[in-house]
Amino acid sequence: MGDDARAEVARLKRERDAVVLAHYYVAPEVQELADHVGDSFALAQLAATLPNRTLVFCGVSFMAESAKILSPDKTVLMPDPAADCPMAHMVRRETVEAARERYGDDLAVACYVNSTAEAKSWSDVCVTSSNAVRIVRALPQRNVLFVPDRHLGRFVARQAGEKNVILNDGFCPIHQAISASEVERLRSELPGAEVLAHPECPEDVLALADFAGSTSQIIERAAASDARDLVILTVDGVRGELERRCAGTGKRLHFPAPRPVCPDMGRISVERLVACLRDGTGEVALPPADVAEGARRALARMLELGRA
Ligand code: 13P
Ligand code: SF4
Repeated sequence: MGDDARAEVARLKRERDAVVLAHYYVAPEVQELADHVGDSFALAQLAATLPNRTLVFCGVSFMAESAKILSPDKTVLMPDPAADCPMAHMVRRETVEAARERYGDDLAVACYVNSTAEAKSWSDVCVTSSNAVRIVRALPQRNVLFVPDRHLGRFVARQAGEKNVILNDGFCPIHQAISASEVERLRSELPGAEVLAHPECPEDVLALADFAGSTSQIIERAAASDARDLVILTVDGVRGELERRCAGTGKRLHFPAPRPVCPDMGRISVERLVACLRDGTGEVALPPADVAEGARRALARMLELGRA
């Protein structure tokens, strides 16, 4: 990325009173142009509080949609509105209704933010991978339907033994493709390595990890680790920030094969970012009022409960 793109982005941001937010999974050259880079929770918090008139979201659509729901008066732009998370669609209303029917008032529906606004509006609270355990444990109900991600749901269930966590069958195709045999291979090639995994990984992979947490938590843990070799079990986009944080320490980063890349996050390019800032394209619409209000309630409850 040249200085030209940087200067162009700075000029266009001033013209629109825009701020650029990027998730750790987008391309490193896009992250370099962003004002803020973070995990889903940090970005949701920022989106709810930043004063700028325009928010440009370099991530997938559920992130930009949540920003619009939390700040309906702002203009929210996406460099490529086709960047969508397949897991966001992996929950059906009937699943939620059947659980509500069965457990009545002693059921809470916890919805991973990687979900559509509709799914959020059926739920009682949103969570991200950085706060799901804490939020589920703080809920007054004993029964918790966790949607859409079965792997994060299982990870929560293991740590919240006092709860009856009911799992849905959604998953992230990228993390699901990380195999236990590949992690075993890396472990045997790298004795003494620390293995850091995202909780969207399957159960047998998480069982082989030393640590599981959100992208930000993985980055923090890697920076603090004494290990020389770090095996990173999440999308390759975190590499840039990890390299920055581990620079000069002699730490070596290892990712599993095949390299975990998210094609939807990959749709966000510098060219598309510049075009969206220049032309105001990719504007995110507010969902219908009842959906927006239900989703806003679940997101606001997460922001309240999720403060560390
Ligand atoms: P976090 O940002 O919570 O680590 O989630 C990762 C993810 O899958 C975002 O799409
Ligand atoms: Fe969705 Fe997985 Fe891509 Fe995250 S990495 S946006 S969960 S497909």
